Amino acid sequence: MRSTTAFAPATVSNVGCGFDVLGFALDGPGDEVTARLAPRDVTIDDIQNDAGRLPREAARNTAGVAAQALLRALGDARGVALSIRKGLPLASGLGGSAASAVAAVVAVDALLEARAPRDLLIACALEGERLGAGSAHPDNVAPSVCGGFVLVRHPSPLDIIELPIPPGLTSVVVHPELEIVTAHARALLGETVPLADAIRQWANMGALVDGLHRSDFAQIGRALEDAIAEPRRAPLIPGLAAIKQAAADAGALGAGISGSGPSLFALCRGREIADLVAEAMTAAVARHIGGASQVYVSSIAPAGARVVSACAS
Ligand code: HSE
Repeated sequence: MRSTTAFAPATVSNVGCGFDVLGFALDGPGDEVTARLAPRDVTIDDIQNDAGRLPREAARNTAGVAAQALLRALGDARGVALSIRKGLPLASGLGGSAASAVAAVVAVDALLEARAPRDLLIACALEGERLGAGSAHPDNVAPSVCGGFVLVRHPSPLDIIELPIPPGLTSVVVHPELEIVTAHARALLGETVPLADAIRQWANMGALVDGLHRSDFAQIGRALEDAIAEPRRAPLIPGLAAIKQAAADAGALGAGISGSGPSLFALCRGREIADLVAEAMTAAVARHIGGASQVYVSSIAPAGARVVSACAS
Protein backbone atom coordinates (compact mmCIF):
# COMPACT_ATOMS: atom_id res chain seq x y z
CA MET A 1 0.00 0.00 0.00
CA ARG A 2 1.26 3.48 -0.85
CA SER A 3 2.72 5.23 2.18
CA THR A 4 4.87 8.20 3.10
CA THR A 5 6.89 8.77 6.27
CA ALA A 6 7.91 12.22 7.46
CA PHE A 7 10.18 13.34 10.28
CA ALA A 8 9.74 16.60 12.21
CA PRO A 9 12.40 17.91 14.59
CA ALA A 10 12.09 18.80 18.25
CA THR A 11 12.19 22.52 18.97
CA VAL A 12 13.14 24.90 21.74
CA SER A 13 10.55 27.66 21.92
CA ASN A 14 10.50 31.02 23.70
CA VAL A 15 14.36 31.04 23.80
CA GLY A 16 14.45 33.39 26.78
CA CYS A 17 12.85 36.63 25.68
CA GLY A 18 10.74 35.35 22.76
CA PHE A 19 7.66 34.03 24.53
CA ASP A 20 5.31 32.53 21.92
CA VAL A 21 7.21 34.08 18.99
CA LEU A 22 10.72 32.59 18.85
CA GLY A 23 11.99 29.04 18.45
CA PHE A 24 14.74 26.91 16.94
CA ALA A 25 14.97 23.35 15.66
CA LEU A 26 17.20 20.69 17.20
CA ASP A 27 19.39 18.50 15.06
CA GLY A 28 18.51 14.89 15.88
CA PRO A 29 15.51 14.28 18.12
CA GLY A 30 12.02 14.38 16.66
CA ASP A 31 8.84 12.46 15.81
CA GLU A 32 7.96 10.40 12.73
CA VAL A 33 4.56 9.88 11.15
CA THR A 34 3.70 7.43 8.37
CA ALA A 35 0.57 8.16 6.31
CA ARG A 36 -1.26 5.60 4.13
CA LEU A 37 -4.24 6.16 1.88
CA ALA A 38 -7.52 5.01 3.41
CA PRO A 39 -11.09 5.04 2.06
CA ARG A 40 -12.16 8.06 4.13
CA ASP A 41 -11.51 10.17 7.24
CA VAL A 42 -8.37 10.11 9.37
CA THR A 43 -7.59 7.15 11.60
CA ILE A 44 -4.66 6.42 13.88
CA ASP A 45 -3.45 2.87 13.24
CA ASP A 46 -0.61 2.78 15.70
CA ILE A 47 1.42 4.90 18.14
CA GLN A 48 4.86 3.76 19.30
CA ASN A 49 6.85 4.93 22.33
CA ASP A 50 4.01 6.67 24.19
CA ALA A 51 3.39 3.91 26.73
CA GLY A 52 -0.23 3.86 25.55
CA ARG A 53 -0.90 7.40 26.83
CA LEU A 54 -1.81 9.33 23.69
CA PRO A 55 -5.36 9.26 22.31
CA ARG A 56 -5.90 6.81 19.42
CA GLU A 57 -9.00 8.69 18.29
CA ALA A 58 -7.95 11.05 15.48
CA ALA A 59 -10.13 13.93 16.68
CA ARG A 60 -8.32 13.87 20.04
CA ASN A 61 -4.79 13.36 18.73
CA THR A 62 -2.56 16.31 17.64
CA ALA A 63 -1.35 14.48 14.52
CA GLY A 64 -4.89 13.34 13.69
CA VAL A 65 -6.34 16.84 14.02
CA ALA A 66 -3.54 18.36 11.94
CA ALA A 67 -4.11 15.76 9.17
CA GLN A 68 -7.87 16.41 9.27
CA ALA A 69 -7.24 20.17 8.97
CA LEU A 70 -5.03 19.60 5.90
CA LEU A 71 -7.53 17.31 4.15
CA ARG A 72 -10.25 19.88 4.82
CA ALA A 73 -8.12 22.78 3.57
CA LEU A 74 -7.24 20.85 0.39
CA GLY A 75 -10.87 19.83 -0.14
CA ASP A 76 -9.61 16.26 -0.56
CA ALA A 77 -12.26 13.62 0.17
CA ARG A 78 -9.75 10.79 0.49
CA GLY A 79 -8.84 9.44 3.90
CA VAL A 80 -5.52 8.64 5.57
CA ALA A 81 -4.39 6.20 8.22
CA LEU A 82 -1.51 7.42 10.41
CA SER A 83 1.18 5.58 12.37
CA ILE A 84 3.05 7.76 14.84
CA ARG A 85 6.50 7.02 16.25
CA LYS A 86 7.26 9.30 19.17
CA GLY A 87 10.94 10.15 19.41
CA LEU A 88 10.26 12.79 22.07
CA PRO A 89 9.12 12.37 25.64
CA LEU A 90 5.57 13.53 26.43
CA ALA A 91 4.99 16.92 28.12
CA SER A 92 8.72 17.64 27.96
CA GLY A 93 8.97 21.20 26.62
CA LEU A 94 10.65 19.95 23.44
CA GLY A 95 7.72 20.67 21.14
CA GLY A 96 6.54 17.05 20.98
CA SER A 97 2.91 17.77 20.13
CA ALA A 98 4.06 20.23 17.45
CA ALA A 99 6.52 17.68 16.00
CA SER A 100 3.79 15.02 15.70
CA ALA A 101 1.39 17.51 14.08
CA VAL A 102 4.06 18.77 11.67
CA ALA A 103 5.24 15.27 10.70
CA ALA A 104 1.58 14.35 10.05
CA VAL A 105 0.88 17.25 7.68
CA VAL A 106 4.18 16.79 5.83
CA ALA A 107 3.53 13.04 5.40
CA VAL A 108 -0.08 13.57 4.26
CA ASP A 109 0.88 16.39 1.90
CA ALA A 110 3.49 14.16 0.23
CA LEU A 111 1.18 11.13 0.14
CA LEU A 112 -1.52 13.15 -1.66
CA GLU A 113 1.09 14.89 -3.84
CA ALA A 114 -0.64 18.14 -2.84
CA ARG A 115 2.45 20.36 -2.58
CA ALA A 116 0.62 22.65 -0.18
CA PRO A 117 2.34 25.95 0.56
CA ARG A 118 4.50 26.06 3.69
CA ASP A 119 2.17 28.49 5.45
CA LEU A 120 -0.82 26.17 4.94
CA LEU A 121 1.13 23.26 6.44
CA ILE A 122 1.97 25.47 9.44
CA ALA A 123 -1.65 26.61 9.82
CA CYS A 124 -2.91 23.01 9.76
CA ALA A 125 -0.22 21.78 12.19
CA LEU A 126 -1.24 24.65 14.49
CA GLU A 127 -4.71 23.12 14.75
CA GLY A 128 -3.03 20.03 16.22
CA GLU A 129 -1.03 22.25 18.58
CA ARG A 130 -4.22 24.01 19.67
CA LEU A 131 -5.63 20.64 20.71
CA GLY A 132 -2.42 19.46 22.39
CA ALA A 133 -1.49 22.64 24.25
CA GLY A 134 -4.80 24.47 24.53
CA SER A 135 -3.47 27.35 22.42
CA ALA A 136 -2.31 27.73 18.81
CA HIS A 137 1.07 29.31 19.58
CA PRO A 138 3.34 28.89 16.56
CA ASP A 139 6.81 29.03 18.18
CA ASN A 140 7.29 25.24 18.05
CA VAL A 141 5.39 24.46 14.84
CA ALA A 142 7.13 27.14 12.74
CA PRO A 143 10.75 26.07 13.45
CA SER A 144 9.75 22.40 13.21
CA VAL A 145 8.49 23.07 9.66
CA CYS A 146 11.20 25.53 8.58
CA GLY A 147 14.24 24.43 10.59
CA GLY A 148 16.70 27.01 11.88
CA PHE A 149 15.95 29.91 14.19
CA VAL A 150 12.53 31.38 13.48
CA LEU A 151 10.68 34.51 14.59
CA VAL A 152 6.91 34.53 14.12
CA ARG A 153 6.11 38.21 13.67
CA HIS A 154 2.41 37.52 13.29
CA PRO A 155 0.42 34.28 13.53
CA SER A 156 -2.50 35.15 11.24
CA PRO A 157 -1.92 36.08 8.51
CA LEU A 158 1.28 34.18 9.12
CA ASP A 159 4.47 36.23 8.90
CA ILE A 160 7.58 34.17 9.59
CA ILE A 161 11.11 35.55 9.65
CA GLU A 162 13.95 33.05 9.38
CA LEU A 163 16.90 34.33 11.40
CA PRO A 164 20.57 33.60 10.73
CA ILE A 165 22.38 30.96 12.78
CA PRO A 166 25.81 32.14 13.92
CA PRO A 167 28.48 29.55 13.04
CA GLY A 168 29.23 27.35 16.04
CA LEU A 169 26.06 28.22 17.95
CA THR A 170 25.29 25.00 19.83
CA SER A 171 22.34 24.11 22.01
CA VAL A 172 22.17 21.95 25.08
CA VAL A 173 18.83 20.61 26.25
CA VAL A 174 18.41 18.65 29.46
CA HIS A 175 15.10 16.94 30.01
CA PRO A 176 14.57 16.11 33.69
CA GLU A 177 12.30 13.31 34.81
CA LEU A 178 9.31 15.63 35.25
CA GLU A 179 6.26 16.40 33.16
CA ILE A 180 4.67 19.80 32.75
CA VAL A 181 1.43 20.10 30.81
CA THR A 182 1.68 23.20 28.62
CA ALA A 183 -1.92 24.22 29.28
CA HIS A 184 -1.18 24.27 33.03
CA ALA A 185 2.05 26.22 32.57
CA ARG A 186 0.17 28.78 30.45
CA ALA A 187 -2.55 29.13 33.07
CA LEU A 188 0.12 30.48 35.47
CA LEU A 189 0.85 33.46 33.26
CA GLY A 190 -2.29 35.52 33.70
CA GLU A 191 -3.57 38.03 31.15
CA THR A 192 -1.46 41.13 31.77
CA VAL A 193 2.21 42.02 32.03
CA PRO A 194 3.68 44.94 34.01
CA LEU A 195 5.03 47.61 31.67
CA ALA A 196 8.55 47.39 33.17
CA ASP A 197 8.68 43.64 32.32
CA ALA A 198 7.42 44.26 28.79
CA ILE A 199 10.09 46.94 28.24
CA ARG A 200 12.80 44.56 29.42
CA GLN A 201 11.47 41.78 27.21
CA TRP A 202 11.29 43.71 23.94
CA ALA A 203 14.71 45.29 24.57
CA ASN A 204 16.17 41.78 24.96
CA MET A 205 14.26 40.53 21.93
CA GLY A 206 15.76 43.24 19.70
CA ALA A 207 19.21 42.57 21.14
CA LEU A 208 18.90 38.81 20.53
CA VAL A 209 17.84 39.23 16.91
CA ASP A 210 20.65 41.74 16.32
CA GLY A 211 23.14 39.42 18.05
CA LEU A 212 22.12 36.51 15.79
CA HIS A 213 22.58 38.71 12.71
CA ARG A 214 26.05 39.85 13.73
CA SER A 215 27.18 36.57 15.37
CA ASP A 216 27.74 38.62 18.52
CA PHE A 217 27.83 35.79 21.06
CA ALA A 218 28.25 38.06 24.10
CA GLN A 219 25.17 40.06 23.13
CA ILE A 220 23.20 36.87 22.46
CA GLY A 221 24.11 35.76 25.98
CA ARG A 222 23.05 39.06 27.58
CA ALA A 223 19.73 38.93 25.74
CA LEU A 224 18.82 35.39 26.86
CA GLU A 225 16.62 36.58 29.68
CA ASP A 226 12.88 36.05 30.18
CA ALA A 227 11.18 38.72 32.27
CA ILE A 228 7.68 37.40 31.65
CA ALA A 229 7.06 33.64 31.55
CA GLU A 230 10.06 32.21 33.41
CA PRO A 231 9.55 34.04 36.74
CA ARG A 232 5.95 32.84 36.83
CA ARG A 233 6.83 29.25 35.92
CA ALA A 234 9.97 28.92 38.04
CA PRO A 235 8.11 27.20 40.92
CA LEU A 236 7.37 24.28 38.54
CA ILE A 237 11.08 23.44 38.21
CA PRO A 238 12.94 22.82 41.48
CA GLY A 239 16.42 24.39 41.47
CA LEU A 240 15.88 26.35 38.25
CA ALA A 241 18.14 29.24 39.32
CA ALA A 242 20.90 26.86 40.43
CA ILE A 243 20.71 24.84 37.21
CA LYS A 244 20.99 28.05 35.16
CA GLN A 245 23.93 29.15 37.31
CA ALA A 246 25.65 25.79 36.72
CA ALA A 247 25.22 26.33 32.96
CA ALA A 248 26.67 29.86 33.19
CA ASP A 249 29.61 28.70 35.33
CA ALA A 250 30.42 26.03 32.73
CA GLY A 251 30.54 28.67 29.98
CA ALA A 252 27.01 28.86 28.52
CA LEU A 253 26.01 32.11 26.85
CA GLY A 254 22.67 31.83 28.63
CA ALA A 255 20.07 29.31 29.69
CA GLY A 256 16.40 29.04 30.52
CA ILE A 257 13.26 26.96 30.30
CA SER A 258 12.66 25.26 26.96
CA GLY A 259 9.09 26.10 25.97
CA SER A 260 6.84 25.56 28.96
CA GLY A 261 9.35 23.14 30.52
CA PRO A 262 10.41 21.04 32.24
CA SER A 263 13.33 20.80 29.78
CA LEU A 264 16.05 23.39 30.25
CA PHE A 265 18.09 24.74 27.37
CA ALA A 266 21.39 26.56 27.11
CA LEU A 267 23.05 28.18 24.10
CA CYS A 268 26.81 27.87 23.81
CA ARG A 269 29.62 28.90 21.53
CA GLY A 270 31.03 25.67 20.12
CA ARG A 271 30.61 21.97 20.82
CA GLU A 272 33.43 21.73 23.36
CA ILE A 273 31.83 24.25 25.72
CA ALA A 274 28.39 22.73 25.06
CA ASP A 275 29.62 19.32 26.25
CA LEU A 276 30.90 20.88 29.50
CA VAL A 277 27.62 22.76 29.95
CA ALA A 278 25.63 19.57 29.35
CA GLU A 279 27.64 17.81 32.05
CA ALA A 280 27.21 20.68 34.54
CA MET A 281 23.47 21.02 33.89
CA THR A 282 22.90 17.27 34.17
CA ALA A 283 24.71 17.20 37.52
CA ALA A 284 22.69 20.19 38.76
CA VAL A 285 19.43 18.58 37.59
CA ALA A 286 20.38 15.37 39.45
CA ARG A 287 21.06 17.41 42.61
CA HIS A 288 17.93 19.54 42.54
CA ILE A 289 15.34 17.37 40.79
CA GLY A 290 16.77 13.85 40.93
CA GLY A 291 15.79 10.97 38.66
CA ALA A 292 17.21 10.24 35.25
CA SER A 293 17.52 12.98 32.65
CA GLN A 294 17.96 12.96 28.89
CA VAL A 295 20.52 15.27 27.32
CA TYR A 296 20.66 16.56 23.77
CA VAL A 297 23.69 18.52 22.53
CA SER A 298 23.15 19.71 18.98
CA SER A 299 23.68 22.45 16.49
CA ILE A 300 20.60 24.38 15.38
CA ALA A 301 19.13 22.16 12.65
CA PRO A 302 19.25 24.07 9.38
CA ALA A 303 16.45 21.94 7.88
CA GLY A 304 12.96 21.35 9.20
CA ALA A 305 10.44 18.58 8.65
CA ARG A 306 10.98 16.32 5.64
CA VAL A 307 9.85 13.14 3.96
CA VAL A 308 12.21 10.36 4.95
CA SER A 309 10.71 7.46 3.02
CA ALA A 310 7.98 6.73 0.53
CA CYS A 311 6.63 3.43 -0.69
CA ALA A 312 4.77 3.49 -4.01
CA SER A 313 3.05 0.10 -4.03
N1 HSE B 1 5.41 29.39 23.94
C1 HSE B 1 4.78 28.25 24.53
C2 HSE B 1 4.70 28.42 26.03
C3 HSE B 1 5.56 27.03 24.20
O1 HSE B 1 5.72 28.80 26.63
O2 HSE B 1 3.64 28.21 26.61
C4 HSE B 1 5.00 25.76 24.78
O3 HSE B 1 4.66 24.87 23.79
